[in-house]
Amino acid sequence: MCGIVGYAGSRNISEVLLQSLKRLEYRGYDSAGIAVVNGSLEVFKEKGDIDSLERKLPPLNGNVGIGHTRWATCGPPSRENAHPFVSQDNNIALVHNGIIENHIQLRRDLEKEGYSFTSETDTEVLVHLISKYYDGDLHKAVRRALRDVRGTYAIAAVEAHSEQIVVARNENPLVLGIGVSENFVASDVTAMLEYTSDVVYLLDGETAIVSPTGVSVYGPDGNVIYRPPSKVDWSVEEARKGGFEHYMLKEIFEQPHAISETLVGYLGEMEELNIIPHSKLDSMKILACGTSYNAGMVGKYIIEELTGIPVQVELASEYRYSKRTNHCPLVVLISQSGETADTLAACKEAKSRGSFTLAITNVVGSSITREADAVLMTHAGPEISVAATKTYTAQLVAMYILAGRLAHTTGHNSEEIRRLKASLRTLPLKVSEVLDRAADFKKASQIFRDARSVFFIGRNRNYPTMLEGALKMKEISYIHAEGYAAGELKHGPLALLDESTPLVAACLPDHTYDKMLTNVSEVAARGSPVLMIVEDGNTDCETIADYVIRLPAVDPLLSPVTLGVALQLLAYYVAKEKGLPIDKPRNLAKSVTVE
Ligand code: G6P
Repeated sequence: MCGIVGYAGSRNISEVLLQSLKRLEYRGYDSAGIAVVNGSLEVFKEKGDIDSLERKLPPLNGNVGIGHTRWATCGPPSRENAHPFVSQDNNIALVHNGIIENHIQLRRDLEKEGYSFTSETDTEVLVHLISKYYDGDLHKAVRRALRDVRGTYAIAAVEAHSEQIVVARNENPLVLGIGVSENFVASDVTAMLEYTSDVVYLLDGETAIVSPTGVSVYGPDGNVIYRPPSKVDWSVEEARKGGFEHYMLKEIFEQPHAISETLVGYLGEMEELNIIPHSKLDSMKILACGTSYNAGMVGKYIIEELTGIPVQVELASEYRYSKRTNHCPLVVLISQSGETADTLAACKEAKSRGSFTLAITNVVGSSITREADAVLMTHAGPEISVAATKTYTAQLVAMYILAGRLAHTTGHNSEEIRRLKASLRTLPLKVSEVLDRAADFKKASQIFRDARSVFFIGRNRNYPTMLEGALKMKEISYIHAEGYAAGELKHGPLALLDESTPLVAACLPDHTYDKMLTNVSEVAARGSPVLMIVEDGNTDCETIADYVIRLPAVDPLLSPVTLGVALQLLAYYVAKEKGLPIDKPRNLAKSVTVE
């Protein structure tokens, strides 16, 4: 997983490439590089983030260039393993996102033919392969080389004496931006938003030639394809920090808007949405990774409660290699980026097992939107911070919409559907009320000041929310955090609880409230500092908890949303207190396009 960019036009080349790369840093930031065509190839790379590269760059001239920000997969982060890679004759430079699976064999063959390597990467293999087939036509050489390659890729290549960028895609995202006398290439539209909002999405197996004067797309058979550009309606401001110290905080505060935007298109006609199969629905699965998996877990509780349909939630990375089981009529794939390799593979696998597939994603035109039978878009806008916040909340909203749609089909409880719709309408306001209390969360975050380990517990629909709370905490604060179903405490974790291990407990009103109180009391008796999250008006917490966070009253069905937002803020303030790189946590990347 990495970010790639390309530019063909008359702007300041290094400025465009660096700006675009900075927008893609969430895809990886352990090394970066650019190649500019200026009579010959000028290549610069550095270990570290884009700023490290920028500091080393001399003034550059040229109308065509490519760039890369890396998240190491094949070879450790280093200057040698950074992209772009250049052919031995210095004629071709290449950036690549993805994995060439047969790179070891290809490397051996190339070595026998006299090619020598300076890095451990699979990408260097590809540049030599392209060079081997090059006879003056880069597009032809790229297409020929890719015939020898097994794996996934989005690539951009330039050659020393031409103003063309040749790009290709297979299972990794690639977007072309269309301007006036200038054109762009990037892994993601946010990289080019300040220059153009007209984009062409490249599909698997396609290649393209991009120059200052035009863009030509070619199908897998080599024939030209005419694909009109689509308009992206995200503003540049939406993709920037807008005065907040971190993207994560900005994105947390954008959640009322993200919820409204996601509800707008669906709430009115929830019952009619054409997103589920016509066949009988006696079971369903939800498949996802990371935070999206936690959203799916919340979805399970909501859907089962509203429809009675049994829901199995599986990690996409496990499902794709699992044994075929009984036919499952509906498989829902959740992926904010729509590009996560395991989720895409799980989608393909589900289709091959005969299931109807519904994708829930935040990115229009992403790979999963093309793979799945139906799509439910979330409208959270661009999310830059690696830790998902507003896209998660928008996924929860999608879960409610799906639950309402399914409840209508299964004839369950029209009164419940009416209640759900009414409650959802109040949700943006309720989340704003949570955000108004940010100062309380900052204060409560003191409980973690010296903690090396922390437990998050909840029950029922708030159990997965606590899994997500623990995930947020570990991602950005580097504190070991575990989410547990409160009933499981006695089966292991109690042994770890002591004065240095805080407990965060969701004690919100529902049928499990009394059980939660008992569990929390058991922990408090063992000396662990306790942070209780309760609803306004709660007094039970006063005798048990060391710290209390109060949330506005909501329909209990929607408490995962307000609770989720509170836990995001908590994690944020802990990481901020520790002075950590909140938007770009070490070793993590936003879009995981490799297995
Ligand atoms: C990465 C991100 C997480 C995200 C997960 C799944 O690990 O850092 O925030 O939840 O990928 O991504 P997806 O785009 O499929 O939701």
